[in-house]
Amino acid sequence: MTFVVTENCIKCKFTDCVDVCPVDCFHEGPNFLVIDPDECIDCSLCEPECPAHAIFSEDEVPDHQQEFIALNKELAQVWPTIAEVKKPAEDAQDWLDKPGKRQYLER
Ligand code: SF4
Ligand code: F3S
Repeated sequence: MTFVVTENCIKCKFTDCVDVCPVDCFHEGPNFLVIDPDECIDCSLCEPECPAHAIFSEDEVPDHQQEFIALNKELAQVWPTIAEVKKPAEDAQDWLDKPGKRQYLER
């Protein structure tokens, strides 16, 4: 089992999640983070830390977000590890809970 970052992280990327991960399994892209499913130890610490409520246990990912399970796995192989909190983008609050952010995912 792993945890999965889903759509509401896109363009928010608050990074509070990386601060609590004991195994540094978050990877960072231009405007989104993913979890490496092969490194995640299923500790659940990150889930309540995300202000965007973007992190789910793999078996609780909503139906319309299922593609993020494969996206986390794929992008964790190509994006670098992030282990320290960063300042979010200045407009991160404006993008919080905006629907339809999938189209803005940058690789
Ligand atoms: Fe890291 Fe634990 Fe979250 Fe997995 S569940 S990404 S190990 S904090
Ligand atoms: Fe994204 Fe939430 Fe982490 S917005 S960077 S999953 S704290």
